Amino acid sequence: MDKKFSVVIAGGGSTYTPEVICTLLSELDRFPIRSIKLYDIDEERQNKIASACKILCHEIDPSIEFIATTDPKIAYTDVDFCLAHIRVGGLKMREKDEKIALKHGCVGQETCGPGGIAFAMRSIQGVLDNLDYMEKYSPNAWMLNYSNPAAIVAQAVSKLRPDSRIINICDQPIGLESAMAASIGVADRKEMTVRYFGLNHFGWWTDIRGKDDNDITDKAREYVLQNGFIAPDKMGKDTDDSWYKTYYKAKDVMAVDPTTIPNTYLKYYLYPDYEVAHSNPDYTRANEVMDGREKMVFSICETITKNGTTKGFDLVTGNHATFIIDLAYALSHGTYERMILIVKNEGAISNFADDAMVEIPCLVSKDRYERLSIGEIPTFQKGLMEQQNACEKLVSEAWIEGSYHKLWQAFTMNRCVPSAKVAKDLLDEYIEANKGYWPQLK
Ligand code: NAD
Ligand code: G6P
Ligand code: MN
Repeated sequence: MDKKFSVVIAGGGSTYTPEVICTLLSELDRFPIRSIKLYDIDEERQNKIASACKILCHEIDPSIEFIATTDPKIAYTDVDFCLAHIRVGGLKMREKDEKIALKHGCVGQETCGPGGIAFAMRSIQGVLDNLDYMEKYSPNAWMLNYSNPAAIVAQAVSKLRPDSRIINICDQPIGLESAMAASIGVADRKEMTVRYFGLNHFGWWTDIRGKDDNDITDKAREYVLQNGFIAPDKMGKDTDDSWYKTYYKAKDVMAVDPTTIPNTYLKYYLYPDYEVAHSNPDYTRANEVMDGREKMVFSICETITKNGTTKGFDLVTGNHATFIIDLAYALSHGTYERMILIVKNEGAISNFADDAMVEIPCLVSKDRYERLSIGEIPTFQKGLMEQQNACEKLVSEAWIEGSYHKLWQAFTMNRCVPSAKVAKDLLDEYIEANKGYWPQLK
């Protein structure tokens, strides 16, 4: 009989937990499960999600053990995979990250620019804690981490826990590939074989092949250059307007280098003035998420719990969760699936720092992955990536050393911050706002 897996979800109270569980339960044929555990530091929040997920789990397969706990020992004992999606400080702190940046005339975003740096300074300890629990109680498990800001978290973890079994991932390339596939008439993004390189939320596609190795790069390039990533009838119906704008703006990002197809997140670095001008400093993406996704997920969970059944709900599965399960499947079954991961460069991009955490295609097999060689990258991308990598490295070093100066340098280095003066003003305000979350800086 096939091995049955035990999975812990770190950040059990996340808005993404129900989708991840739905997808796990819809994939039991290929990825059998014996236990699903939720772990969070906020018991009350997690219980709201867990009570509904437990009902769902029992409806699909009552033999699966379902546990929600705030005890790391219970959570992490006897697990094969930890799927980690924590948000240290919650959406309330995301709101501060975004609003403080905008107040100083800078991009206010969750992972990019000053907000991403502030978030990283909270997130690193949370991810390390969870990784340490996993290594203590289930040393052979893998952590598939998508807690943001994934780029800086990956950078810090690779330095502090170089031998840990953690893989950092992002669903953005996957989502954009689905949009691209739909735009150019490819039935499933898995029919495409892509070349892609960059840092997390900072990358480019250079080559796209369809079935029978057909080169469809130009077709995809032409579409994105004209339309961005919009494929009107194929995007999820719940996609918020702000995300449509982001998909559309990709065409302006691409205009700067029409030879490659950019990740949408590059808009924050290449058009920061436009982004600030089109942001509402009193109502940011954090507000949209709190009023939208968060309310919706919690209200569905509340109704399911009250009714004692999931009947009447179309519970969602999605790209995001499918990608995570594909990765767990590849690591446990040795499929050599080609997947875009955030990994140490170690020569894959030959003209880029060996120790940088880059986002590139890898072949994933049993308990390991192999990087695909990218070779030399062009001057435009190399220059941008070097600056961004230096910024992310400085954040990680500032966190490790408790260095005020390195963090000031990191803010100064960021393309979304115009001067060292603004960088210092931002830093001082973030220190105040993050008391109790950031390490002490000297
Ligand atoms: P959320 O605030 O709804 O949920 C996060 C949960 O983490 C909360 O319940 C919180 O209590 C919990 N938490 C905080 N610190 C913790 C700790 N130290 N240990 C365990 N649990 C902890 O957030 P969300 O909007 O659902 O997003 C969750 C995370 O997933 C964020 O970091 C988000 O950016 C990330 N995310 C990443 C990707 C990607 O592409 N990498 C995609 C989607 C979401
Ligand atoms: C994309 C990114 C994630 C990000 C997510 C949600 O999927 O890759 O890193 O967390 O979007 O963003 P939102 O603004 O909707 O919370
Ligand atoms: Mn991401």
